[in-house]
Amino acid sequence: MTARKKPEELRSHRWYGVNDLRSFGHRSRTAQMGYHPSDYRGKPVIAIINTWSDINPCHTHFKQRVEEVKRGVWQAGGFPVEMPALSLSEPFQKPTTMLYRNLLAMETEELLRSYPADGCVLMGGCDKTTPALIMGAVSMNLPAIFMPAGPMLRGDYKGQFLGSGSDTWKYWAELRAGNIAERDWQDVEDGIARSPGHCMTMGTASTMTSAAEALGLTLPGAASIPAPDSRHAQMASQTGRRIVDMVWEDLKPSDILTERSFRNAVTTVVGLGGSTNSIVHLVAMAKRAGIALGIDEFDAIARSTPVLANLRPGGQYLMEDFYYAGGLRAFLVQLGELIDGTQRTCNGKTLGENIAGAVVHNPDVIRSRDRALLERDGLAVLRGNLAPGGAIIKPAAMEARLRRHRGRAVVFKDYGDMAARIDDPALDVDADSVIVLQSAGPQGAPGMPEWGQLPIPQKLLKQGVRDMVRISDARMSGTSYGACVLHVTPESHVGGPLAFVHNGDMIALDVDARRIELEIPEDELARRRAAWRPPIPKFSRGYGALYLKHIQQADQGCDFDFLEPDYDGGAGHEAAGGDPEIH
Ligand code: FES
Repeated sequence: MTARKKPEELRSHRWYGVNDLRSFGHRSRTAQMGYHPSDYRGKPVIAIINTWSDINPCHTHFKQRVEEVKRGVWQAGGFPVEMPALSLSEPFQKPTTMLYRNLLAMETEELLRSYPADGCVLMGGCDKTTPALIMGAVSMNLPAIFMPAGPMLRGDYKGQFLGSGSDTWKYWAELRAGNIAERDWQDVEDGIARSPGHCMTMGTASTMTSAAEALGLTLPGAASIPAPDSRHAQMASQTGRRIVDMVWEDLKPSDILTERSFRNAVTTVVGLGGSTNSIVHLVAMAKRAGIALGIDEFDAIARSTPVLANLRPGGQYLMEDFYYAGGLRAFLVQLGELIDGTQRTCNGKTLGENIAGAVVHNPDVIRSRDRALLERDGLAVLRGNLAPGGAIIKPAAMEARLRRHRGRAVVFKDYGDMAARIDDPALDVDADSVIVLQSAGPQGAPGMPEWGQLPIPQKLLKQGVRDMVRISDARMSGTSYGACVLHVTPESHVGGPLAFVHNGDMIALDVDARRIELEIPEDELARRRAAWRPPIPKFSRGYGALYLKHIQQADQGCDFDFLEPDYDGGAGHEAAGGDPEIH
């Protein structure tokens, strides 16, 4: 039986339980908020980090859900304290929420450090909120449980289902090709997002909440429940109940996260046909936990993992269908021995115990291994002289004919250049061309936005072209698709080879050989490298300047160097480590 903490061993005891001047202040000010000592005395203080905001459509239900989490905390004998945190709203934040992922991670860690938290509930789901909250909580290493926002309901358009993002790109291309009218486009706008919840394709949000569940950081089955479903509200209050026990049991992220649990998360992501963004996030999350997870691990796992979830953008269905088909638990059962069921999870049971008995109700949505959507290669890591540090492609969501391709480069020096010229009828481009975008990486854009699904030139759309090889140092929305080579590392802004590509250079892609090559002579590449001058940094002050100084490249997870556990200030001296003394 697990040893339980005593009340005087709680971290919050220093705030509430002692008799000194400071704790007088803590108690009198808690009374000011209407609480009696019986509300909190000797009880775990549960910080509920809530990323609700009026500007975040994916979290509109969090005002209600936080009450349900609190209800669970009260029921289990804890003291709930809601702490609002930066809401990274994917559709609205410019240039990209990725610029601010590490800021939310820092805020999460520092909220937990500076306030009397004994444990925390992390409320997130919209893309970057999931990794950010988990990264911060892992660094603080208090008992933590993640409450996923849940996917929104399917979109609706003239009786057909619409998928977030994926169908936006699809119908936008059809509009530009002249195949649908403005009023059809308006109908898509009206029907594509019609309930609270995050994107309901297997985009970054669904990928990351599923990864969090596979890591053992959510209650079993939590990630798949649609946001408006009453079972989502029940899950919220169960999450609140569970965190109180996790505090008494002292069950921390460091007790749950292991090399093998991260392998489970990667296997889950690949088997779901999940977002390429998960690579950057999981690498960063693992590093926070002191676990080495390289991008090549994703490639190795993808080579032996079938894609079993028939979900857009690579497949047909949406998250609502996935839930009704049995959800993540049933999906993980299908992966069989590829999942290590011995790993511990936040409810105190192993992952294997949590998924035991889960049944698939629709075998077309959650496939068995003998009817896999794709035998292997849900994701792939490419290397070559164009990406010595690696690049990513999603074979699950591209036209198979492009897996091996050579073409002439059509280069855009930045996003503005591309936006200005891509639809120019005079642009020298054909269906075999390779479109290249520079200056879209972590430093160059900055923030590595989701520009990687580069638009297909309008004149080619009109000819019926729907996929082309496209290359950038950007990321791509998890809801996007196409033969897009992403995360090219090092990025062009810091002098990566992508900076040296000229119009007309031949580029060769070979997904099966995992190669991406710029076919120019070595001496010519060296000449271009010698002539290259670093661009002017995009920020000179504020958070942006901090970001540019400390952001790491995509293969390192784009975390700030100083947030990694073994950071020594660059001075080579030993880190102090742990919490500073609280006064
Ligand atoms: Fe929030 Fe897609 S916009 S998850």
